[in-house]
Amino acid sequence: MFGPAVLPPAEWHGRVVVVLDVLRASTTIATALSHGARAIIPVESSDEVITRSKGFERSELILAGERKSMRIPGFDLGNSPREFTREVVEGKTILFTTSNGTNALLAVQGAREVLVGSFVNFSAVAAMLRAAAREKIDLTFLCAGSDKQFSLEDAVCAGRFVRSLGRRLAHATVNDAARAALTLEKKYGADLPKMFLAATHGRSLVEAGFEEDLAVCAAVDSHPVVPVYADRQVTRLGTDRGR
Ligand code: MLT
Repeated sequence: MFGPAVLPPAEWHGRVVVVLDVLRASTTIATALSHGARAIIPVESSDEVITRSKGFERSELILAGERKSMRIPGFDLGNSPREFTREVVEGKTILFTTSNGTNALLAVQGAREVLVGSFVNFSAVAAMLRAAAREKIDLTFLCAGSDKQFSLEDAVCAGRFVRSLGRRLAHATVNDAARAALTLEKKYGADLPKMFLAATHGRSLVEAGFEEDLAVCAAVDSHPVVPVYADRQVTRLGTDRGR
């Protein structure tokens, strides 16, 4: 589905949901977990980040997030995946608020499993989805979009996931949004940096000085992790969950 989630919990029930905000929140989450971050806690606002931070040892915590693509004043990091290096994030819990991606995560309630997908962790997540499809579990791709608008890059990534389901698709019911995503992936998916430059949010990131982020976000499988959102935090599949 395209755009922010407004579905009641019953609509998610029993599904595996993949939240996509390729530019840049889902890429940043995969990068942080791949570099050893303990957990990422998505929250709605910068005020909430400050309030929640009081429950942590400051040395264990990173305050991160953006508004209008720029780091929130007083925070440790913004939302550029290049900032989330191993040196900075290893062993840390990250309180994270972004304009679209974290809200999309917070909107999903009652799903069987919620994963965070992007190009940088594409194959790892795609393998999980193929396993779910084998068990005939329904899948939903939630494209976060940008400022409540459709985002080309999220749709192309969703289309790539749909395509990766391969022959399983022949026996599945595929809705129009998934068909549209497949078509967009066919048109734009072969050259991701070029697609980002055609996309509204890609161009706005360039204008804001984040051109180098586009190459990082286009690096397919550079961070082969499966981020799972459960108990209000995102952790890497296969690691112990903390607080
Ligand atoms: C978001 O979550 O709204 C985006 O990741 C915005 C951004 O690129 O910083």
